[in-house]
Order: sequence, then structure tokens, then C-alpha cells
Amino acid sequence: MSFDVLALRESFPILKRTIEGKPLIYLDNAATTQKPQAVIEAITSYYVNHNSNVHRGVHTLADESTRLYEASRDSVAQFIHANDRKEVIWTSGTTEAINIVAHGLQQLLSSQDEIVVTEMEHHANLVTWQQVSKGAGAKLNVARITDDTELDIAHFESLLSTSTKMVAMPHVSNALGTVNPIETLIPMIRQKAPNARILIDGAQGVAHGGVDVQALDCDFYAFSGHKLFAPTGVGVLWGKAEILADWPVWQTGGEMIATVTYQDATWGELPNRLEAGTPHIAGVVGFGAAVDWFTQLDISALQAHEKQLMSVATEQALAFEGLELVSRAKNKIGVLSFNLTGSHPSDVGFLLDKQGIAVRTGDHCAQPLMQRLNVPGTVRASFSIYNTLEEIDALFSGLKKVQMMLM
Ligand code: ALA
Repeated sequence: MSFDVLALRESFPILKRTIEGKPLIYLDNAATTQKPQAVIEAITSYYVNHNSNVHRGVHTLADESTRLYEASRDSVAQFIHANDRKEVIWTSGTTEAINIVAHGLQQLLSSQDEIVVTEMEHHANLVTWQQVSKGAGAKLNVARITDDTELDIAHFESLLSTSTKMVAMPHVSNALGTVNPIETLIPMIRQKAPNARILIDGAQGVAHGGVDVQALDCDFYAFSGHKLFAPTGVGVLWGKAEILADWPVWQTGGEMIATVTYQDATWGELPNRLEAGTPHIAGVVGFGAAVDWFTQLDISALQAHEKQLMSVATEQALAFEGLELVSRAKNKIGVLSFNLTGSHPSDVGFLLDKQGIAVRTGDHCAQPLMQRLNVPGTVRASFSIYNTLEEIDALFSGLKKVQMMLM
């Protein structure tokens, strides 16, 4: 298979849009990716032809909906190399997935225990653990990053001990694009902190080609559909079956039970025990369609394309006078975070939008990280498989204009 970015762009109707009379240049993919026609059609077809609740009815529509819903679980399980389809728990997104794990851990923690996170966390993987450790009186350790926005591995290692009960860290930083070497960190955690569970926040990791959760050997991997061409409002908590089978239940109600009396209840089997209530069925169907669409592409060609976008963008950023590159990790993916000297990031973002260029500005849900980096926020251009080298050029010409306007 060969990779043709212009042909790929044809699959995304929104990319034909204009903003302020200019062609849309969508560089906010770390916030959410655009949706291909195949996903839009799968959701429409679900509502036009099959809409019903799942796991509950004997009628034809209920059966069709249940089959579509469970087929998506198979697609996702295969995509992430889960050992078993029941290890894939549907959630509303990465945040809920992390909260399911945190809620369970809180019930198992004591004041002697410790949790390790990093300075590059998104609030979803920081505030959650901060509140859990406060609730249990446990210690929250924060592993430092270097000035090159990479994890300080020696400091990270020094925080691991037999008291560590959870290590929760991002695969890829949403604000910086830094790729953490989790393939080597996970064996290190197993050795130094044998009592720890390991959760990887994969919100930004999975979108760049997938993940093999068995090879990684983490305990939990959390991610969202919408950063992988699927709709918003649906995500996944993957966990090892033997851990999830006993994990304290998250929400109680319909679907997650085995038996109920007026006085008591028992819980069902995986995955249902962690999926209470009517789920986001159309979202799950769209998620399956997104994974099926994505996996028929030439993933290594896509990865090479994204790598080229990143390296050209970094080169141009380094050569751009008056641009302070904030994301400086050697191994980074999808994200370029920067500031124009003397300009506020939101002014830069606003003036880029006038040229049709969509970026995110601000703290990127990582306020402590911005404090650590001593910046009020950044301009974040984030790339996906459908971006082109011409769009990178347009970003930097756009920034030149912004620089002149703000001078
Ligand atoms: N977490 C998303 C981002 O980084 C929303 O923009």
C-alpha cells in the first residue's frame, strides 16, 4: 500500500471548509481529530437502520445494535492487542477511564502508600491522583522533567519503592508531544516498585499508530475515541482481566449486576461490571468504524508522514527568529508548543484563526506544567495524518504575519 495524503484528505469532508474565506488548516488534532466519512456514515446508518438499546431486547433491532456494539469491542481489542475482548471497558473518555481506576485504588490505599505521577501530566491524570492521595492520606510524588521537556529518568527511578501503589503517567504529553519511553520504564517500575499498579494515559499515544498493551505489560491503558477519528463521548479503559475482575465497581445500576434483591446485589462479569447504564451506543459504533477505517491504512507510511511533518515543523521553528520553542524533547510526536517573544499565546491563536489556521492556546489542561516551564501558556500546533507539508509552511508564514501585526 502507498500513502497519498491528498487522497486521504478526501475522506474528511470538513477539510474542504473555509474559515474567514481561507482554506481551513486544522492544527488542533491533539484536542480532537476530524472524522472521516466512514465514521460519519457508520453513525448515521446506526441511527437510520438499527437504533435500539443493547443487551436488553429480544427484538431484531436490539439484536443488531448489540452485535454492532460488541463488534466494535472486538475491533478495539484487536487494535490494542488485548489478550481478551472483555478487557476493553467502554467509558466516556480517558478522564472517566482514569477515574474508574482511581476510584478503585482509593478503596485499597492506606496512608503508608505512595503514588507517582510526572510533571507533564494533563489535569485528568494529576488532579485525579492528587484527590485520591489526599483522600487516603497517601503521598503523591511528582517526577521531574528536564529543561528539554523530557522525563528526568533518574529522578523518576528514585521515587519508586515498595511503598509505591500506583504509577500513572502519559504515553505522550498532550502539551509537549514528549514521548515517554514506557517500554523501558515499565520493567523498571516492576523491579523497583513491585507493589505498584501501572496506568498509562494513552490519550495522545494511541492516535499515532496504536499500541500493544500485552507487550507493554502495563496494568491499565486509558484512551479516548475522539483523538483517533472517532466521535467524542466514548473512550476505553483497558486493564488486565485478572485485575479488572476484582476492581471495585465504579457506578452501580442496570447492566453491571448479576443478581439483585431489595437488600443487596452481586456484580456481573467483565466487561459489564464496569459498564453501568445505557452506554453511548452510536459512539461505540463510530469508534469501531474509526478503528476499522484506520487499520486498513498503511500505518507505517502514516507514521513516516507524521515524523516528517514533525521534523520539518521543528526545523522551521528553530530557524524562526522570535519564536521560543517550548517542546524540545528529542523524541516527540504530533505536538509543537511554542511562544512568540513578547506576545500572549491567545493573541497569536486569534490572529492565526483569521488566516484559517486552527491551533490551541493556553495551558492545555496542564497548569502546573506551565508553571514549571515558566510560561503563561503556549501556542500548540498539533498534527495528524491528513496534514501536509504545505500546511506547515502556511503556519510559519502565518506566524510571520502575526509577528508583524503584534510588533
Ligand atoms: N486533552 C485535550 C488537549 O490536549 C483536550 O487539547
